[in-house]
Amino acid sequence: MALIFLFAIVSFLSENWGANQKPGFVETFIAKWALGFFRRTDSDVPNPLPPTPQNLEEGHRLYDKECALCHGLDGKGQGEKGLQFYPPAPSLVERTTEISDGQIQAIVSRGVRYTAMPSFAKELTPDEIWKIALWVRRIPQQKSVASDK
Ligand code: HEC
Repeated sequence: MALIFLFAIVSFLSENWGANQKPGFVETFIAKWALGFFRRTDSDVPNPLPPTPQNLEEGHRLYDKECALCHGLDGKGQGEKGLQFYPPAPSLVERTTEISDGQIQAIVSRGVRYTAMPSFAKELTPDEIWKIALWVRRIPQQKSVASDK
């Protein structure tokens, strides 16, 4: 009985150590779960603004001013040049089918804690963020967008 108890404690401890040795895996798992949790709740909200030329232009202007520093003018995320940090700013254009406008709205207004992704809740109005989402979704179709990589 005592042996089983001892075995349980030892394996519990060694499991913990194993987790400590692989913080990348555990952190990634928890981060994905946490991110997935609030993403699910917000993904259904549709963008209330239509992609009119004015809305897109405003979104383009705001994106270049507020987001391009980290996500790149072309939206492809952190490159070899420019600011370097970890976790890196992901590409916003290669996975736009996975991420909805509602998720962009939620992520941009809250930010992502423990990463470089800031909260824009006091910087941008919800409408401005919806316009940025309209623009982000259309970056891949723009021929004139400069690649800064
Ligand atoms: C100071 C750098 C920085 C700025 C400025 C910034 N971001 Fe981010 N952003 C990040 C980082 C880093 C992440 C990755 C967070 C993570 O690892 O979950 C991120 C994540 C995101 C995500 C989630 C992407 C995904 O698939 O998980 C979206 C959407 C996003 N940013 C949009 C924006 C928009 C729109 C702006 C401008 C309003 C902006 N970001 C400005 C650094 C930045």
